Amino acid sequence: MKKTINIGLAGYGTVGKGVMSLLLSKNEDLSARAGAKLRIKRVCDKKFADKEKDKAGARRLSEQNKGDPGLLAEGKVYTPDIEDIFNDPEIDIFVELIGGYQPAKRFILLALERGMDVVTANKNVLAKDFNELLSAAAKNKRRIYFEATAGAGIPIIAAINEGFCANEIYGLAGILNGTTNYILSEMSSGKAGFSESLKKAQKLGFAEADPTLDITGGDSASKLAILSSLIFKSHIKPSDIYTQGIEKIQPFDIKLGGELGYTIKLFTLMEKVKPEQGKASAKEGVTFQVVPAFIKSSHPLASVSGAFNAVYIKSDAAGEQMLYGPGAGSLPAASAVVSDIVYSARHIMEKSALHMPFFELKKKPPRIADAREVESCFYLRFTAEDKPGVLARIADILADHGISVASVVQKDGFSPKAVPIVVLTHEARTGDLINAIGEIDKLKMVKEKTVYYRLLDI
Ligand code: HSE
Repeated sequence: MKKTINIGLAGYGTVGKGVMSLLLSKNEDLSARAGAKLRIKRVCDKKFADKEKDKAGARRLSEQNKGDPGLLAEGKVYTPDIEDIFNDPEIDIFVELIGGYQPAKRFILLALERGMDVVTANKNVLAKDFNELLSAAAKNKRRIYFEATAGAGIPIIAAINEGFCANEIYGLAGILNGTTNYILSEMSSGKAGFSESLKKAQKLGFAEADPTLDITGGDSASKLAILSSLIFKSHIKPSDIYTQGIEKIQPFDIKLGGELGYTIKLFTLMEKVKPEQGKASAKEGVTFQVVPAFIKSSHPLASVSGAFNAVYIKSDAAGEQMLYGPGAGSLPAASAVVSDIVYSARHIMEKSALHMPFFELKKKPPRIADAREVESCFYLRFTAEDKPGVLARIADILADHGISVASVVQKDGFSPKAVPIVVLTHEARTGDLINAIGEIDKLKMVKEKTVYYRLLDI
């Protein structure tokens, strides 16, 4: 029976350092949970090509590790050469914290081929190649764990895999990107504008290396793809997700929505869509969206601010629940990675099937409904001339498309020539709304493109 589980970690950045710190400082308890001594055998990062850093790193590790030399392998721990991990037959678990797409994907596949379990925080590779990675793991009789890919410290993957296993999850609304949530919170409180808030988020270390992935919704879409693939046991790809970012949100709408009792957030949504009436062939579908939307300021999701994340789940047996916590940062992400290391080690020790995502590689995905099929209430902001008949004309077109108005507010104008008119609607089909707006925006009296956001009723 093995007594030691050897770990090879690739990528010694913010999360890698957190993982080392947790594995070293809590080793006794973690090893007891794993059923074997957890030992860090190799830590690989290109930066260790610099010999001085390598030595300093090794010195620091032995300092931290005083009194229990068994926690770290003897000899060369820090290495710039990934082959030192792949060529080491003693390594049981490969921890991939390099990020990006390649070479990370190649390394994950190679580790599985070499008979290692893989723990990864890599949402890009996983969201895109879910099937391929899970098939490779199955083929090599190994496992792949990815708790840190969504929601960092929030154990949402374990919850979906295990805690909710007796449930049908029929709805999910998440706030899964700390950077955009931080920016929107700052903008909502009037403390700062978009660019200034983005700079602050980058400084605080939440943003991706390329923050356009955060801002345009790509990061949230990858996370939603992973969670949805687990929920439907079938690969939901980022390209299945209708994705819109926060770059076009204007402070004026945040303020006005606030006055009407709503808060804006970038939501990741999985919703079931009813078959359209009268269409005999249509069946129930599911939509996946990343969109900025308003939510009642009294809803628990509205109070998720700063870099925090939350996932609101609707399930048939356990009901509606919200998981909430830090969605980025060294220790929260490391907490997820280390929990996966323990699951993996336990599996290796017990040969149990604990914590493997229940996934059917050949299962067909649900019918993916177009975002236009979704029914929702809406916030609309028209910018139109302030003269008799304007509102009536707009209301007529809305009515022609079956859209019923719930309330109207006219605000002071941006310019003498145009005033903002805000309309809150009753429930309408998104497609009908888009068609109505297309017609309204062609009117001469309408001076700017109409802005619209969903009013989420979760
Ligand atoms: N860039 C991500 C965020 C980091 O802002 O949430 C965590 O995945």
